[in-house]
Amino acid sequence: MPIFINKENNQFHLTNKTVSYIFHVMKNGELGQLYYGKKLNHRPDFSHFAAYHIPTAASCHGEKTDPAFSLETICQEYPVYGTSDFREPAISLRHPNGSSVGKFEYEGFEVIDGKERIPGLPSTFANAGEASTLIIVFFDKLRDLKLKLFYTIFENTACITRHASLENEGEHPVDIERMMSVSLDLSDHDFTMVHLAGAWSRERHVKERKLQTGIQSISSIRGASSHHHNPFMALRRPHTTEMSGEAYSFHFVYSGNFLAQAEVDHYDAVRIQMGIHPFQFNWRLDQGEAFHTPEVVMTYSDQGLNGLTQSTHTLFREHLISPVWQKRERPVLINNWEATYFDFNAEKIVAIAKQAKELGVELFVLDDGWFGKRNDDTSSLGDWLVDKNKLPDGIDALSQSVRNAGLKFGLWFEPEMISEKSDLFSKHPDWVIHDPERPISYGRNQWVLDYTREEVVDYMFERISSIIESAKLSYIKWDMNRNITEAYSAVLGQDRQGELFHRYILGVYDLYERLTSKYPDVLFESCAGGGGRFDAGMLYYAPQAWASDDTDAVERLKIQYGSSFVYPIYSIGSHVSDIPNHQTLRRTSLKARADTAYFGTFGYELDPNKMSEEEKTEVKNQIETYKTHRSLIKTGDFYRLISPFASNETAWMVVSKDQTEAFAGWYQVLAAPSPKKINVLKLAGLDAFSTYHVNGSDQAYGGDELMQRGLPLPVEYNGVNKNQAERGGDFQSNVFHLTKKGD
Ligand code: GLA
Repeated sequence: MPIFINKENNQFHLTNKTVSYIFHVMKNGELGQLYYGKKLNHRPDFSHFAAYHIPTAASCHGEKTDPAFSLETICQEYPVYGTSDFREPAISLRHPNGSSVGKFEYEGFEVIDGKERIPGLPSTFANAGEASTLIIVFFDKLRDLKLKLFYTIFENTACITRHASLENEGEHPVDIERMMSVSLDLSDHDFTMVHLAGAWSRERHVKERKLQTGIQSISSIRGASSHHHNPFMALRRPHTTEMSGEAYSFHFVYSGNFLAQAEVDHYDAVRIQMGIHPFQFNWRLDQGEAFHTPEVVMTYSDQGLNGLTQSTHTLFREHLISPVWQKRERPVLINNWEATYFDFNAEKIVAIAKQAKELGVELFVLDDGWFGKRNDDTSSLGDWLVDKNKLPDGIDALSQSVRNAGLKFGLWFEPEMISEKSDLFSKHPDWVIHDPERPISYGRNQWVLDYTREEVVDYMFERISSIIESAKLSYIKWDMNRNITEAYSAVLGQDRQGELFHRYILGVYDLYERLTSKYPDVLFESCAGGGGRFDAGMLYYAPQAWASDDTDAVERLKIQYGSSFVYPIYSIGSHVSDIPNHQTLRRTSLKARADTAYFGTFGYELDPNKMSEEEKTEVKNQIETYKTHRSLIKTGDFYRLISPFASNETAWMVVSKDQTEAFAGWYQVLAAPSPKKINVLKLAGLDAFSTYHVNGSDQAYGGDELMQRGLPLPVEYNGVNKNQAERGGDFQSNVFHLTKKGD
């Protein structure tokens, strides 16, 4: 039982094999944070952890009878705005008299074996025996408001999840102006903040900054988690590396506006918060209603950043991704976007599908342009009816032909968008998010549908359902290509516009929920102009994501390296595309492109009919290679070995849980002849007492040797070693399959 409770002193200790999280009820009825880190043995009393860690200063506001008891200096769990703590609060409410002073006092607790889902929101899940949930209940007696804090600790991974709820048991409405999912005070700030930032076509690059006094934050107020900041933040100790040292990470299971911040205060403590962004947020809670925040996953590691990654991957693989898709292999796909853009017909598509089938591809994904009069991006979004000019026999017949060719059939939708030139807009101009008194901004020539309206969700559910059924779809690429501007809904009324962004994403989740529960066998892949909404909220419904519109092998090293901090690599859509690359005009070898794409869900974005016979043979072998290793890629532990942000090389590997097998990728961007005395790649995660064969060769290397001294890399050309050189030129890569000797 991983939750210990010292009842006499109201102390709570969540623990499993690796981590401990301890807090208590303070004398003012609020929660004090006592410890979060490496596992501690349980003890009957942790009171001494609460020692006020600094003397009270004249500026601190303490209690009359105990001036040292000041909220300003004490580590707390969920600080409420209005009294003597001047850091940013976890919760701030506006009461009917205009006051936002709050006071929640401890009422009691409840423990649940397993974990309950959060109404209307994606969240991790667990059966009895896999996790335990602790619910702490508080009450504001003056306002009749009940606050609950939910903590779940998992048995098999170093993760704890948190969220909060507020119930209005009073007679008057209350406005929620800020309600974080997590607030956590740590007593020192000797950390470097790690996060993932970027832009369209350059998503999730790893960024680091040392924590400094004041607030440092990442956020999105675009209505989507965004290309620009991923809803993820880690704190590592200064000497922590990929392989060793202490680190914490915070992952938001949410796809809308978010804020993640670290506030270093005047006593050098740090307050970490993550939740719905309070900017433009205001939720009116009427009598009898409840509000639930989304969930945050907190992970702790004393095994470096790779340790964080592996624990989070385990959690997401086993407790977030739909159970239907946890076990199934993902099909190798081919997508026609870069092969045809809008210019296709049934013959072209079937020809691509037939050729792809011969190469071993399993799923054909028809991209944008199959509906309405969609010959460019200026029209038809919202009208999900086939374009009979392009596909005279309809989408069902095309699907049949592709399936006759031996492939599964999938389709592109952009369900949240509407074009000005569309039948839907003519019928329902008020379904667009806009301020009726002002012009609407364009983004990719389109507008956003008002998903706060139930009838919009119903309409889209009907449209997509009918196509799933008639065209027998196996897969949907759910795209979302612009953010929300002129955020105003015609149906929300004057005092509820602050609910728009959150209600919008609840509408999106509702549609996802209805579609995925009615069609559990349809594989959904989320996409947002590539990776503009790749987050744990989406992963709950869509077990894989289009990681980026940029498929250039060199750019991909950074994108996939960054993405791997959070997302299991089997959820990262990674594809081989044509050269010159459509985003960078760079030319890399077919081998380099596949060697990079193997470490994800594999596929192709090109026209295989344009390839030479040699290239086709190479692709056939690539697909076979991927199929051989995809089960390992799905379930193994991922290790980042060399960072593309730090050097000309990149390396990573996946190791099976039983350490009998591993698959490693090594990449060098620019040629670098004669750079090192010993040209090796140091591996990780192997059994030090076993020996391994590499790529089927007879020679066996010790696991210890491969990790400590390294695997010899092929010899690089240097101008004079013509007879020895095994590689040369820019954009080199190699993959290595290791098998334990005797297995
Ligand atoms: C977005 C997607 C692409 C493609 C286009 C189609 O940019 O990320 O993969 O589907 O839309 O319009």
